[in-house]
Amino acid sequence: MLIDTHVHLNAEQYNEDLEEVIERAQAEGVKTMVVVGFDTETITRAIELAEKYPFLYASVGWHPVDAIDMTDEDLKWLEELASHPKVVALGEMGLDYHWDKSPKDIQKEVFRKQIALAKKVKLPIIIHNREATQDVMDILKEEGAEEVGGIMHCFSGSEEIAKECMKMNFYISFGGPVTFKNAKNVKEVAAQIPLDRLLVETDCPYLTPHPFRGKRNEPAYVKLVAEEIAALKDVPFEKIAEITTANAKKLFGID
Ligand code: NI
Repeated sequence: MLIDTHVHLNAEQYNEDLEEVIERAQAEGVKTMVVVGFDTETITRAIELAEKYPFLYASVGWHPVDAIDMTDEDLKWLEELASHPKVVALGEMGLDYHWDKSPKDIQKEVFRKQIALAKKVKLPIIIHNREATQDVMDILKEEGAEEVGGIMHCFSGSEEIAKECMKMNFYISFGGPVTFKNAKNVKEVAAQIPLDRLLVETDCPYLTPHPFRGKRNEPAYVKLVAEEIAALKDVPFEKIAEITTANAKKLFGID
């Protein structure tokens, strides 16, 4: 069994064939998935899906790229959703300096507000970081994020940063890029992460693993990520599947 800790089955890319995508995931042993919402539309859809399918859970938050759109009402809405029985985390949240739709100061403010909310509602957080590592680390520390912990989503940082994150109660989650031929650094770091801190994800429909790179991603492919990590760590695949599943269940408080 595998748990895909980060899917966007709420994306329009699955409008035509969601049932088949889910069936293929289940056939590959991907029994549980966390649907991540990041704005009004995708959060609403994540909740709908989690209510419809017993094996789907939801995480709700505001993406840094869209931080400029988050209102006080939206933050209150996140707080209400936090008590929904299928909501297991807040996020994805964080900083993204690749895109400039939302100014950095607004991204930081929205990130801080969501960490504060997570501490209030006692839910772990899912962190999106793109080209903003130092500021993400500073804010996690300043806001006391270790109180709730969570997931460094699709991790691509150094081993030193991974260690700092683990000290703050975060799991390190790897996705498709760990399977890319040229991803030497990510592979080296993945090999060093202790088993009890590891998670796997797809971030589908994006970041499709090798050998399907360039096509639409889907949760069934999380098996390719787990197989790659098993090879890198020289541990049987079954062990990686078992431990990452136990880690995810513990973090999200699901059974
Ligand atoms: Ni995502």
